[in-house]
This record gives sequence, C-alpha cells and structure tokens, in this order.
Amino acid sequence: MAESPLRFVKPGAVALSALPPLALYVHLPWCLRKCPYCDFNSHERAGELPEARYVDALIADLEAALPQVWGRRVLSVFIGGGTPSLFSPESVDRLLAAVRARLPLEAGCEVTLEANPGTFERERFRAFRAAGVTRLSVGVQSFDDAALQRIGRVHGGAQARAALEEAAAAFDTFNLDLMYALPGQDRAALARDLDTALAFRPPHLSIYHLTIEPNTRFANDPPPLPDDDLASEMLDLIVERTGAAGLQRYEVSAFARPGHRCAHNLNYWHFGDYLGLGAGAHGKLSFPDRIVRQVRWREPAAYMEKALAGAAVSNENVVAASDLPFEFMLNALRLAEGFDLALFGERTGQGLQALEPALGTALERGWLLREGPRVKPSAKGYDFLSRLQQLFITG
Ligand SMILES: C[S@@+](CC[C@H](N)C(=O)[O-])C[C@H]1O[C@@H](n2cnc3c(N)ncnc32)[C@H](O)[C@@H]1O
Ligand code: SF4
Repeated sequence: MAESPLRFVKPGAVALSALPPLALYVHLPWCLRKCPYCDFNSHERAGELPEARYVDALIADLEAALPQVWGRRVLSVFIGGGTPSLFSPESVDRLLAAVRARLPLEAGCEVTLEANPGTFERERFRAFRAAGVTRLSVGVQSFDDAALQRIGRVHGGAQARAALEEAAAAFDTFNLDLMYALPGQDRAALARDLDTALAFRPPHLSIYHLTIEPNTRFANDPPPLPDDDLASEMLDLIVERTGAAGLQRYEVSAFARPGHRCAHNLNYWHFGDYLGLGAGAHGKLSFPDRIVRQVRWREPAAYMEKALAGAAVSNENVVAASDLPFEFMLNALRLAEGFDLALFGERTGQGLQALEPALGTALERGWLLREGPRVKPSAKGYDFLSRLQQLFITG
C-alpha cells in the first residue's frame, strides 16, 4: 500500500497532495470620493480615469503570473474596489476577454463586479452583464439619507433603491451590502433599512458591523456610535429578519437564499487559492511544497508602471508552516456550517495534531461542536469568534 506523503515530511513543512481551487481577484482602485471609514486601497478620482492603461497593466500582470497558475482552472472572478462600476463596460469587457483568453474558466464561473449607487446609467448594468459579469454586488450601506450623509456616502437612499431595481432586472443573482451600528443609528432605523433591503428580495445580503479602522478619518475624529449592547441587539434583529425572509446566515456577515451563496468568498473561507491582480491586491497561491502570499504595488500609478514592466508583485513570502493552523481557522471558523476536518489536511498538508491542543480546548469549552467528520462553531463560539480563532495561534 502506498504510504501517505505526509509520512515523509519534516515537522512543519508543507506537502500538498492536491492543489486547492483557484479564484481570481481583480482590484480597481478608484472611487468618486473616499469614505471616512474606509481603509481599502481606494483613491479619490482626480479627472479622467486611466482606464485603458490600467487594463493594459492588469493584462501584463496576468501574463507575468501565468506560470504560477499553469494548467489550473478558475472557479470564480471578483472585480472589487474601490468602485469598479466607475469603469466603462467596454473596459470590463476587454479585461474579461483577456482573462478568458489566458485562463480556463470553470463552466458556470461566477463573475462578480462591485457597483456603487450613483455611478451608473440605465444601460450600464446590462452592458456589464453582456461583458460576462454574472453577479453584481451593490454597495448600499443604508437607505437612510441622513445616515448615508453621516458616513460620507456620495449617494442617497433613492439612488440606492434605483441601483437595486436595475441590478435585479439585469442579473439573475446579486448581492446587497449593508452596514449596521452606524453613527446615530437606533434599532428602529436599522429595522427600516432591513425591511427596505428585504423588499428587493436580494438573493444574497452582506451585513457588516461598521468598524473604525486605523488611519481613516473616522479613526482621527470618531463619530458617536451605538454601544456594544445595542450593536448586539441589532445583530439579533438582523438574524431574525433575514431568517424570516428565507435567507440563511452561512457566514458571520453573509446571508443567502439556497443556491445563491458567493462561490468566490466561499473559496476564501475554505482556504482556497486566489490570484490577486491590480493595485495593492493580495494573493495566496499553493504549490506542492509551499504556500505563498503575494501583494501587488499599492499606489495606482506605481502599480501601472511596475505591472507594465512585468514586475507587479511588491512583496512575496512563503507562509510559515506554524502559521497555517491559525490562517486556516481564521477563515473556516467564519462558516456557520463549519468544515470537514479532512479539509485542513488537504489545504495545509498538515495532520490534525497541528490543531491540538486548541481543538480539544475549543470543544471542551463548548465553542466548537463536532458532528461526525465536521466541526462548526457553536452559538457561543460565534459570539466569541475572535477568541475562538486566537486559540489556534501557534509559534
Ligand atoms: C471595499 S467595499 C467596496 C464596495 C463599494 N466601493 C462600496 O463602498 O459600496 C466592500 C464593502 O465593505 C464594507 N465596508 C467597507 N469599509 C467598512 C468598515 N470600515 N466597516 C464595515 N464594513 C465596511 C461595505 O459594506 C462595502 O460595501
Ligand atoms: S466607495 Fe467603497 S471602496 Fe470607495 S471609499 Fe467608499 S467604502 Fe471605500
């Protein structure tokens, strides 16, 4: 009988018997205005966008990366930002055609594009669809004009509603992003946002607790925010209303109707691979003997120059074997259904002993539940998720 490849591996080294599914992330880094809470790599647009040059740079970046993903099929594409809907459908079409010409996409490959209300014309969403986008993710945040103004959004509630109507008309599936625990928001205001959102029957809803990120305008000048007790009541309300509307909470912040879970994000949470193209994009790529993380040049002008010269990657490092248990759990424990324990070995090349003693402790404390081959966070584990994840920090 053939011996398991794991038998021959030095403790801590990586030996993968198969590579994980591969996704593609493409970052488009411009917005109309920088929101005061946002720490994503997004830059206020100054004049015309250098769309053609940026797409040229993305294609050069992809060309240079091809040897690292040779022969692999792409499960999903996510065009995120920034505000990708600022790009013309023609540019998105050129980008997707270049991707299809160089990488085989799985049949039924999910292709998501992030869109902001107020950055589109009536025909624009349909043109994105014609370019090959299969799923739109609309960043609404709230429908309340005063709340939107307090968080510095460029659009109002009416534009958010119009964008959703168009998304629903143009796409078979779409996502709606909301945030809660907004400055000045109370339970009743959140209930109104939820009712309005659910009236659009979104196949997928992402609802994020507004976080004050370092080095943002809100970090320097914090607005008054709901306290932790109110935020926790708000989350209860979210779970109750979305559940009653037929959406299942399958991840901390993600709610979906059957058949509409986000394949791209599920791949992150299953510790799959992703090639990240574009300014500041992050990637994770597995090879039989190592797992590599990459970051591209962050500033858009520098990124374009470097990518066009075939050197888009600013930083690349092999993930230490001792970091893999935590990195895997940081993702997998976000899933309400948890994961099959065998997946840990498949993705990290390590035996289950690498998860001990944390796994035993989490089960003992009742933060994790074991169901046959699977483990999943309990209700209590979900409430203390970051403490649960931190149990798996080693090294
Ligand atoms: C990177 S943004 C891009 C989407 C789009 N530009 C927009 O803002 O609508 C993706 C989502 O992250 C969420 N987000 C961004 N900053 C956040 C923060 N500080 N706290 C919580 N959620 C945040 C918002 O819901 C947003 O729709
Ligand atoms: S529109 Fe989205 S990506 Fe742009 S600054 Fe605002 S939150 Fe960030």
